Amino acid sequence: MACANAQLTDNAVTSTNDDATCSKSYAVSLGYWVDPYIKTVCKQTIKKTPEINRGYFARVYAVRALVEGFINTHQRKCQVVSLGAGYDTLFWNLKDHGLLPVKYVEIDIATVTRQKTFMLLRKPGNMLEALGEEVEVLGVAKLGIQCPHYALLPADLRNTNELDKQLQAASLDFQLPTLVLVECVLMYLPEDDSNRLLGYLAQKFSHCHLVNYDVTNMSDRFAQVMLENLGSRQCPLHIQDCVSDSAQMERLKRSGWMQVSVKDMNNLYNTSIPHEQRTRIEKIEMLDEVHLLSELLKHYCICIASNTQDLDITCASLTSSIS
Ligand SMILES: C[S@@+](CC[C@H](N)C(=O)[O-])C[C@H]1O[C@@H](n2cnc3c(N)ncnc32)[C@H](O)[C@@H]1O
Repeated sequence: MACANAQLTDNAVTSTNDDATCSKSYAVSLGYWVDPYIKTVCKQTIKKTPEINRGYFARVYAVRALVEGFINTHQRKCQVVSLGAGYDTLFWNLKDHGLLPVKYVEIDIATVTRQKTFMLLRKPGNMLEALGEEVEVLGVAKLGIQCPHYALLPADLRNTNELDKQLQAASLDFQLPTLVLVECVLMYLPEDDSNRLLGYLAQKFSHCHLVNYDVTNMSDRFAQVMLENLGSRQCPLHIQDCVSDSAQMERLKRSGWMQVSVKDMNNLYNTSIPHEQRTRIEKIEMLDEVHLLSELLKHYCICIASNTQDLDITCASLTSSIS
């Protein structure tokens, strides 16, 4: 019974990826940003409210600006590792803008990496072609893909030994500056597992930056409703260590990250996203209740951490090739 429940929870967690992909795809279809690849990986586009669409815009804009900022700072002589990457298309969008790092690695649970592999193979076209000629599909089960600049590999983030094996298999250079992206992932891992993962990452790479899109301000009534909704979908959030910005900072410091900064998405939306971008997207759909958007945004944040003395990127003022 415990095993059946664990499977149910795992299925619910992996289905959060379908939700993220479909929500991004809907926002793209309305013109919030351009992503020529999202349709290839989206099973069906689901209509979302204007608040949700603006929230996704802020999230995608911020993540992309930070990843691009890191790649530019290191003149592309760096690596990106996206944990719980789901059906993300960032690799392909970076390639279109001439911003590929030396290696880009995506990790997720095997069911998700297998589905993504099948999608890339079944819908051959620009996404598969962008990977170049030397594409190796992993095994008969087709659990992932390896090629010189990109790898899609299965691992359960609750098991750092399994993750370690896959990062070695991806031929990463652990001395090269590396950005680890965890976009909307850590909240689904039990606290002990996310703390172990954060500690492992801080130790493993000699120069590592973490960009974590996560929840915050989880002690109020709004958060309570969020938690009840996800709990009823068998998808509990693990929020003990992210109840506030300071709790987020403390857990990162405890795990060995030397420099840490946290900004909630409401603050980030109002102060870090360029004014012209906000003006552009705010014309796409009318908002009936503006306070609902700020309430929603206040419950998410971007945490940036570095395991060195320097933070190479900050949320202070974000610019991205997204439009
Ligand atoms: C909300 S989705 C986010 C996907 C993607 N990062 C994005 O923002 O579009 C959460 C992702 O984390 C992955 N995930 C959750 N728990 C995981 C685990 N224990 N090991 C590997 N991946 C996990 C899920 O499979 C899913 O793809």
